[in-house]
Amino acid sequence: MTEPMRSLKKMINGVDFVGKSFISINDLSDEQLLKLFAVSKELELFNRGQINIFPDRQLVLLFFQPSTRTRMSFQTAMHRLGGSVISEANPKVTSSTAKEESLEDTMRCVSEYADIITLRHYDDVAAREAVKYATSPVINGGWGHWEHPTQALLDLYTLWRKFGRIEGLKVTIAAADLIEARTGHSMAYGLARLGADVTLASPKESKVPEEVTQRIRKEFGLTIREEFDLNKKTFNELIKDQDLVYLPGCSAPAGATAEHFKQIMDDYFVQYETLQEQEEKGHRIYVTHTLPRRKGEMDLRIDNTPHQLYFEAILHSVSVRMGLLSIMLGA
Ligand code: CP
Repeated sequence: MTEPMRSLKKMINGVDFVGKSFISINDLSDEQLLKLFAVSKELELFNRGQINIFPDRQLVLLFFQPSTRTRMSFQTAMHRLGGSVISEANPKVTSSTAKEESLEDTMRCVSEYADIITLRHYDDVAAREAVKYATSPVINGGWGHWEHPTQALLDLYTLWRKFGRIEGLKVTIAAADLIEARTGHSMAYGLARLGADVTLASPKESKVPEEVTQRIRKEFGLTIREEFDLNKKTFNELIKDQDLVYLPGCSAPAGATAEHFKQIMDDYFVQYETLQEQEEKGHRIYVTHTLPRRKGEMDLRIDNTPHQLYFEAILHSVSVRMGLLSIMLGA
């Protein structure tokens, strides 16, 4: 074994997460998160190549909700690591779920093929229950309205690569509906725990569930600010001194029409002029959106400017998911 490979394997095992499941961002300690980022940085070299660490390991993707990024980037990550993948993208139709097999039985059986399972599910309560029946480690690929921890991992990693730190960064997480924004919940935990100054901006009636804010305040002993019922003007005032505006995708309440969605998102619309104005004063505001985004939700002029982090995060998502698979499989 070469010295760089020996060193990488040592880093992977040094995170001390082999055989564990990753259900919540809080399953990794602060120290483990930072060690995972260091492993992922080493693996960036293989984003477009291959490192044959896990030729005999198999990942099963069980996605009970549609996905482009999460499913494909996990698949890419496992291939880059030399492993194999079974991808079930529509299990309600193509698996025995269609024959009313329970999620518990599915998890139990799939564990016999999989060394790791990534599960996306529309019902976080059902997913949290079923995961108890899996005998292989499970990754939460987005569960209900609860958490989407690997999205937070990749967004935290993108910030860490951009700034070299998370601590002290000013971040506003904003959406018309932060109840349903599972990426926002995971990101709020991760940012607060790693020392960022976090503001949550939403209508009061759809604020982040207290389960999240209370846990941050009481269990972790950290501060998190909430700003309610802003409008486009006050929101754009708020973001002027922020380092990042974080926009969790799909933040419209279920059933909202495109017109209704546009109307409610208008209060949280990042004006390109605000970014430009602050840039001229020497302060850069980055913007990330977890995607997918809907028409009218964002000013598309941001896409091709240095403020944009959302497409930059896509490539990082492969390295960080390679990192996560590695620390769970163990080298
Ligand atoms: N951000 C995200 O989870 O995207 P997908 O739904 O396409 O996986």
